[in-house]
Amino acid sequence: MINSILNIIPRTVLSFLIFFAFNLESEDQSDADSFFEREAPVYPTPDNLIGWIDSRQIITLNGEWSYWSYIVDPMNNGLPESSFFGGFPKNKTQKTGMELIEYNFETAAKIQIPGAWNAADEKLFFYRGPVWLYKKFKYSPKKESLTHLYIEGSNFTTRIFINGSIVGKFEGGYVPFNFEISKHLKDGENILLVQTDNTLNESSVPTQKTDWWPWGGIVGDVYIVETPKQFIRNAYLQLNPENFTQALFKLEMNHKFAGQEISLEIPELQFSNKFITNSSGAITENIKINPQLWSPSNPKLYEVIISSANESIKDEIGFRSIKTQGQKIYLNNTEVRFKGKLLLTAKELNINFVRAAHYPYTRHLAKIADQFGLMLWEEVPVYWNIDWDNPETLSIAKNQITRLVQRDQNRASVVVWSVANETPLSESRMKFLHALLSEIELTDSSRLTTAALLSGSEEQFRSLVLVLALQGAKSKWVDPKEKAIFKSILDQANISIDRELNFSLSIADPLGESLDLISYNEYFGWYYVTFFTDQMMISEGTLRELMFEVMPKIKISSIFNKPIHISEFGAGAKYGNHTNKIWSEEFNKPIHISEFGAGAKYGNHTNKIWSEEYQAKLYKHQLEMLSNNPQIQGISPWVFKDFRAMLRPLPGIQDFYNRKGLIDENGNKKEAFKVLADFYENKWHQ
Ligand code: GCU
Repeated sequence: MINSILNIIPRTVLSFLIFFAFNLESEDQSDADSFFEREAPVYPTPDNLIGWIDSRQIITLNGEWSYWSYIVDPMNNGLPESSFFGGFPKNKTQKTGMELIEYNFETAAKIQIPGAWNAADEKLFFYRGPVWLYKKFKYSPKKESLTHLYIEGSNFTTRIFINGSIVGKFEGGYVPFNFEISKHLKDGENILLVQTDNTLNESSVPTQKTDWWPWGGIVGDVYIVETPKQFIRNAYLQLNPENFTQALFKLEMNHKFAGQEISLEIPELQFSNKFITNSSGAITENIKINPQLWSPSNPKLYEVIISSANESIKDEIGFRSIKTQGQKIYLNNTEVRFKGKLLLTAKELNINFVRAAHYPYTRHLAKIADQFGLMLWEEVPVYWNIDWDNPETLSIAKNQITRLVQRDQNRASVVVWSVANETPLSESRMKFLHALLSEIELTDSSRLTTAALLSGSEEQFRSLVLVLALQGAKSKWVDPKEKAIFKSILDQANISIDRELNFSLSIADPLGESLDLISYNEYFGWYYVTFFTDQMMISEGTLRELMFEVMPKIKISSIFNKPIHISEFGAGAKYGNHTNKIWSEEFNKPIHISEFGAGAKYGNHTNKIWSEEYQAKLYKHQLEMLSNNPQIQGISPWVFKDFRAMLRPLPGIQDFYNRKGLIDENGNKKEAFKVLADFYENKWHQ
């Protein structure tokens, strides 16, 4: 009798009852934990990336408000492994009104996808945690084809469930991933549940500390993709940078299908040829073509069609060569300088180059840049300090760079792959970044590689103090008290006042050896003097003005005989904050900034440093400094537009915006916008 009763009561309920019966007694917390926290089921990882996505059989799941809904789950209670009752994927619904169900996606708030939920819902602005996204869709699976779910980007940890069963999990934001989901689908109504979690930590990529907002959720297109059972997974077609009548054609099938006949056509070039897949279901061939070359002045694209017995995919591809020689950059064997910024308004800036920092943007950016004739730098968020020795961290970063390269490998506009930004020197960092560079090499060796480096030893920057002290000691406008301090600094360093001293910095980050482009972030005129002001006991205002005076003579070079790209410089400014007048103690009145030399002293004007005038002045001195350094062949000032950043709370000025934009969040141009546009127009030529 007892046995028959025991057989019908499921084990979980039994253990639940036993827990309640005995738990009051058990001191051993782990039993309790294990009771609450069951073993995590296996979450498959995504398939290799499906390329040429825009010419596939697609059903979009992008949705207006009415389709997608979301539930915030700060306790991560919705996961099957952490909920008593199987979790949200069960998607239980009331039948009799007597069922205990503590969630309901049908009545939950609605959200537009793609779109970050902490941008859409003010309550979630600072939230970091799991949010579930729910979508119902009608579908009829087809016997002869495979069905895939393609998500172009979801931040940062994504778990996917279809009709209650686990599809898989992807760690890493911003890059596309896809799962083959045929076995999960049913004919008729299907439920897609996506748990997105924007939690970051020491071992994620990026870590939780970034100077940009951790937008959470599905930030890219969501597609149901149908392919034949044997399909072309991805294909690569790029011009040989050394031979403009040869292009490398690479293709991979979804499996090792040998002997598949594949045709490659470029109608406008009267090119048509057939190839056979090898034993690994792949093709690698050089083809002879004679295309017009893609460039900013002639963004020529060609329709390329690849067909197998089962399908045909196509894309618009431009053919160009990008390479460096010595300290020069060459586009189609013509010397080029990068004039960097963002797209439409940026054309007003006379730019030819965009640094898409610090993470992969949507694929649409590169497609538009192809048409606009803009050169692009694409980057993965290996940013500041990363858990270099952690193999999981490395696999996340590898996945990001591989998926980015495989997504945009045919974009003529993409000329630079960047593997990192401002990462501190260490052996494990070198190993990590070399691993990413090798990943790129596996797929594409036709573009430049780089990383935004920090450089300059403490020793080097200490000499900047002496350069500023000498400038101050010789200055006509520095007040006597500060001049005396400058003189004592020089005396201690045994430097006589009639010496000539200029600051020079040589970028020597050992990673430079393995990069094509030496990229360097520098903030002369913005951050550096803040480090010195307390130590020198000189007012920051005086040091900032002296810095402007010494900047034109600053020498920036590199131990590597390669072109330098200044990947960041800039200053913050609040649009509309004008202070071209400075309070002068001496004249007991505000004087125009241009008269600053006339012994004016910085009064207690609170936001002068956040003025448009200060930003414009910094740009003038920066651009003069950069154009005086011949090894510098590219610049992309930081940053085109004010952007959300958690590190920037200053009320009334920043309000959680990084204010280094040349335009503010509403598109208003600050004074420095014109300074840069004029410089690109008149000075920084090819
Ligand atoms: C850094 C960093 C950026 C940041 C910028 C700034 O160099 O790369 O992400 O926004 O400086 O301080 O504004």
